Amino acid sequence: MGFPIHRLRRLRQQEPLRRMVRETHLSPADFIAPLFVIEGHDCREAIGSMPGQYRLSIDLLVKEAAELRTLGIPAIILFGIPASKDERGSSGLDPNGIVQRAVKAVKQQVPNLMVITDVCIDEYTSHGHCGIVRDGKILNDETLDCLTAMARTHAEAGADMVAPSDMMDGRVAAIRRALDRAGFADLPIMAYAAKFSSCFYAPFRDAAHSTPHFGDRQSYQMDPANAREALREIDLDIKEGADIIMVKPALPYLDIIATARRRILLPLAAYQVSGEYSMIKAAAQAGWLDESRAMMESLLAIKRAGADLILTYFAKDAAQLLRSPQ
Ligand code: PBG
Repeated sequence: MGFPIHRLRRLRQQEPLRRMVRETHLSPADFIAPLFVIEGHDCREAIGSMPGQYRLSIDLLVKEAAELRTLGIPAIILFGIPASKDERGSSGLDPNGIVQRAVKAVKQQVPNLMVITDVCIDEYTSHGHCGIVRDGKILNDETLDCLTAMARTHAEAGADMVAPSDMMDGRVAAIRRALDRAGFADLPIMAYAAKFSSCFYAPFRDAAHSTPHFGDRQSYQMDPANAREALREIDLDIKEGADIIMVKPALPYLDIIATARRRILLPLAAYQVSGEYSMIKAAAQAGWLDESRAMMESLLAIKRAGADLILTYFAKDAAQLLRSPQ
């Protein structure tokens, strides 16, 4: 003795062997690609805070969706940027609204691609909050009516899954009831269950023009300090009928992902949010990180922590990389 019997380096000596003992694998089927949709035709606006991401008009969105499908990505999630906003986010509930038309177009032209919709009014409200505002307060129960109406119009447009991201209490149950009553009992709900009040959403708010005009989102999104409360949120959403549970953001919250994975039996999704994406892009542009490696390592970490599905702006690039011979 005295000499190491266990040499863990034995299994690290050559690439095929490393591949044989690899514990975690990424596949294009793990990814959900978020896309931003705007009015107009042949419009492609670069998003300054998210290099490589664009706001697309419906015709170009359909083309992008088809490319993602070809790469083996099973689903997209849509975020709409409407022409007009008001106090109640009415343009988000319009059966002929931007997202509703985008869903119809993609479902018609790219069959076999799952179209998920984000159910939340912040992209459609003039004040930028995720709920109805009265006297500076964000009202919970009044907001539920908007959310159920919005989810219904998404379902009627042909969405394959709805994803409430507002963090109002009781919204999963309310949406489930509304969908069942409207004849959509088979439509799954992916709940943004543990959504933290995070500074990492800033580039998204620039992309979707949804920065709150007053205050912040701390009265409805979760305190980043709270792990037990995240589990309460997750438990409640499961009781209320959620089919898939999401944790958001991803990389700074791997502990929540890992704990949730051990605790629940539902599929678990994690959202690698705009700020996580833009940090890697910016560091790569400065020459401080290798972009592809940082992208794959962060996605792998999220999967290793326990996420079955990853919402990521890197979906296309990562899928391309996974398909090219290594
Ligand atoms: C709310 C919503 C947000 C994101 C997804 N859905 C913004 C927010 O809560 O401010 C953020 C996603 C990201 O940062 O990539 N509709």
